[in-house]
Amino acid sequence: MSISGERETWATRIGLILSMAGNAVGLGNFWRFPRLLAGNGGGAFMIPYFAALLLLGIPLMWVEWATGRYGGKYGHGTLGPTFYLMARESVKPRTAIVFGIIGGMLAFAVTTLLNSYYIHVIGWTAAYAIYSATGAYYGVDTVQFFNNHIGNTGMVMATWAIPMILLFIAAYRGVSKGIELFNKIMMPLLYLFAVILAVKSVTTGAPVRPDWSSWAGLEYSWKPDFGVLMQNFWVISLAAAGQIFFTLSLGMGIIQNYASYVKKDDDIALAALTTASLNEVAEVVLGGTIAIPIAYAYLGPSVVKQGSLGLSFMALPNVFTSLGEAGRVFGVLWFLLLFFAGWTSAIAMYNYLVALLEEDLGVKRKVAAVVVFIVYLLLGLPVALDPSLTYFGELDNWVGSYLLVLLGLFDVIVAVYLFKPGNLWRELHNGALIRVPEVFKYILMTLTPAYILILLVGTTIDYYKSGVFAQSDPLIVGARVAILIALLIGAIETYYGIKRKYARELAENRKIIVVE
Ligand code: TRP
Repeated sequence: MSISGERETWATRIGLILSMAGNAVGLGNFWRFPRLLAGNGGGAFMIPYFAALLLLGIPLMWVEWATGRYGGKYGHGTLGPTFYLMARESVKPRTAIVFGIIGGMLAFAVTTLLNSYYIHVIGWTAAYAIYSATGAYYGVDTVQFFNNHIGNTGMVMATWAIPMILLFIAAYRGVSKGIELFNKIMMPLLYLFAVILAVKSVTTGAPVRPDWSSWAGLEYSWKPDFGVLMQNFWVISLAAAGQIFFTLSLGMGIIQNYASYVKKDDDIALAALTTASLNEVAEVVLGGTIAIPIAYAYLGPSVVKQGSLGLSFMALPNVFTSLGEAGRVFGVLWFLLLFFAGWTSAIAMYNYLVALLEEDLGVKRKVAAVVVFIVYLLLGLPVALDPSLTYFGELDNWVGSYLLVLLGLFDVIVAVYLFKPGNLWRELHNGALIRVPEVFKYILMTLTPAYILILLVGTTIDYYKSGVFAQSDPLIVGARVAILIALLIGAIETYYGIKRKYARELAENRKIIVVE
């Protein structure tokens, strides 16, 4: 029986790869990574970062691709039904649905809430591209300027509309005619701009003080500093592992969603590795070469080491100002780069929700695109109306650093253990252009989940120590309530979505529908 008959697919392999790279390469690479790197001892950060890439990132990438394509065979691009189908291999449908609900609920909360503030940051980059072109921040205090921008609700709303409308258009047009097309245009430009900026950055020299050279900045980022690492081992390791999740878009449901549009006998093993590599080039090579060295050269190590949110929006504008008229061009390139990076990730979350409405609830894609637009509009309002960014920060704290990791744990429980390692390996290698070394299967069964558990426990302890649990600011409480509501709606929706399609299986409590 074929229930996947008319499912959309990617038009070309290059389109798939660029779209997946677009999904993974985001603000995380150019905005979050330099901030974490600089704030966590530079080269000290790189050691646990690469360890996490190897033990968590790449293995989970394979798992999520395989999960996604498997779900796609059954006509699903969302985690709820896909996890249900996989769990069914070991447990009865009525137990399997519990895992479906957990996966669906977490992915729903992440794709609704993370995107709700992320699209705002993309909006800021649009605004800053304009400010760079007009030289608006030239000669003014850039911190003040940023705060004024965030407080200027009219401007914030107007520039938020830019990514929102483009997202709507792409989602409305569909996977190959919308998402793939936009990625094919934006991703090459992104890499081009990044290379130009990276070259500019490393050739900056030492324009302000002899000891503030861009090379010294590079050295700070790259020279492994075991001393600093040992002193702050826990904090740095957690930050690095969390970043691996974030940057590869793991634990969000969106790698699976994109992979669900891969034809069932097309390669995913090499494609997953290619995507991860493209992401790491964008992150470590390009992301690591632009902001830090150039800020180091113009503003000095103390500004860099603060590792604050301000590196992109407050420090770099000062650098562009110092470059005079040419700085306007570099400013535009930098903020457009951020815009493309962010937008091509945000569309993945947007599409996840479109798929959810389409496949779980039977809404037409075009209608779904409108509904999701309205959802993001409503969810984005509290972010736009709170210039203190308290609500934003609290959402990010939980959704951007915690829920992802939790979902990653269920990736392993469901797609490795319940689906069974042998099945996963077979699924991964169906149509594969490479063979993944067997050792990764064992890593996935042992080290990866152990690593994730440590990460979860460590983050919980950190939160506890920092006293976040005791805070009672209404905006913070509001953010937490929003998260709980999203989880609840996600759980109900998933239950309904699975029930709708697999009612008979659940009633008889045995596996009936099988797609080969
Ligand atoms: N990998 C993305 C990044 O590095 C993370 C991401 C993908 C994301 N889609 C998103 C974050 C949507 C927020 C919203 O930025």
